[in-house]
Amino acid sequence: MNTPIYNMLLKYSGKRPLPFHMPGHVMGRGLAAFLTSAGPFDITEIPGSDSLHDPDGVIKDAQDLAARAFGARNTYFSVNGSTIGVHAMIHAAVKPGGKILINRDAHTSVINAISLLKAEPVFVIPDYDEKLHLTLGCRKAGLESAMSRHQDIDAVLITRPNYYGIAADVKDMIRISRSRGIPFLVDEAHGAHYAFSCLFPRPVMELGADACVQSLHKTLPALTQTALVHEGASSHLEPGSLFKYMSMLQTTSPSYILMASIDIAREIMEKRGAELYDALYERIRAFDRELSGIAGVKRIRPDAPGIETDFSRIVLSFEECGLSGFEAERILRESFGIVAEMADYYHVVFITTPFHTDDDFVALINAIRETVRHGYGPVDDRLSFVRAPVTLPEKAMNPGDAVLKPSERIPLEKAGGRISAASVTPYPPGIPLVYPGEVISKELAGYLAEIQRSGGRVHGIMDGRVQVVKP
Ligand SMILES: Cc1ncc(COP(=O)(O)O)c(C=O)c1O
Repeated sequence: MNTPIYNMLLKYSGKRPLPFHMPGHVMGRGLAAFLTSAGPFDITEIPGSDSLHDPDGVIKDAQDLAARAFGARNTYFSVNGSTIGVHAMIHAAVKPGGKILINRDAHTSVINAISLLKAEPVFVIPDYDEKLHLTLGCRKAGLESAMSRHQDIDAVLITRPNYYGIAADVKDMIRISRSRGIPFLVDEAHGAHYAFSCLFPRPVMELGADACVQSLHKTLPALTQTALVHEGASSHLEPGSLFKYMSMLQTTSPSYILMASIDIAREIMEKRGAELYDALYERIRAFDRELSGIAGVKRIRPDAPGIETDFSRIVLSFEECGLSGFEAERILRESFGIVAEMADYYHVVFITTPFHTDDDFVALINAIRETVRHGYGPVDDRLSFVRAPVTLPEKAMNPGDAVLKPSERIPLEKAGGRISAASVTPYPPGIPLVYPGEVISKELAGYLAEIQRSGGRVHGIMDGRVQVVKP
């Protein structure tokens, strides 16, 4: 196999060395039984194993192979997920106190990086399909309008695809942003597999983004925490800056097991990805045919201009049989041992990969068939949902100022007029209603309470309390 890191590990462990070096378990001897077979591969920086922070051997070779496979100028391994890649991209593109344009439903790592840089976020609100209860991603018009209001933006960062496998068309956005000399960064955490089959939306490296991050562990056969940060072929980022921040933000003891896992996942996909995804596509087509014969459940794949969907992400609605996403998810898990990736009020989301078999899809279909029988009949008021306020809350300070100030947890009903110290995000649509530094108005507090009363889930509210900046 053309896997430099893995090959090095095989060679080193095959020599049965007597290590007097880290880690302390000595080639697995001191590990719990279930980990002993991994022990000989869990090594540290020794002659021949290269260094993630100054790569010129097997790690460099593996990163170069990944860059070629994913269509990047440079690729850096992350052993701390896309999270650290998001931080590195933002640090490389935005100066302390600078401005960055982001989609309002960005991942928490985005707002954390912005907070640490004491930067100012400018929001683009993603489209929302009221009927399907789904966010569809940002549009060119939203980006252009934000850019015309803010001429001093350092960078743009857009999440694409979103959790529901919806990939907005960012080609024009990339062109517009780059023509103004503004780096276009993409959180492609859920799209690491796009590079390996033309059945998926095109990956943003191909579309000309300056940089992107991808979680290999989300969709590819790789261990949890593995991710890649790619620098585009014609990146506007200062040369070396992305690597500098990846190095500053990552451990000096990266796991060789994680790095070998990245190396192997890339090799498997490069060699067999297209064929594996063709087979998965056929399996899912068969699944869709079966599903269409089951009353009360529907697969949701929005078909709107300017968006594409990922066929491997299955989003189901049980609305017609009267089950919320949360209820359907619980029945599938508790009664049939089928554990979905996530649920929101209206949907259950499943991640499928080429490593799911025909039998797995049969099991899923059978469980769905039984689950709809638990329904309460056609949709009624039970599933109706209050609509979110459409205007953005008043901003009192930047997120970085809010999260670093002393704060306290207070009951939601007393939060009217207070400055939030955290994001508050109802699901769906997964768009923060309040960011740190924004004012929780009385109306907003009432709306959030209403969502909770109707059974909705809100990140950022615990035991009816929210985190606010101390006066
Ligand atoms: C859109 C998005 N970006 C970034 C991340 C962070 O990825 P990781 O868990 O690999 O650090 C996630 C995690 O769920 C995510 O959904």
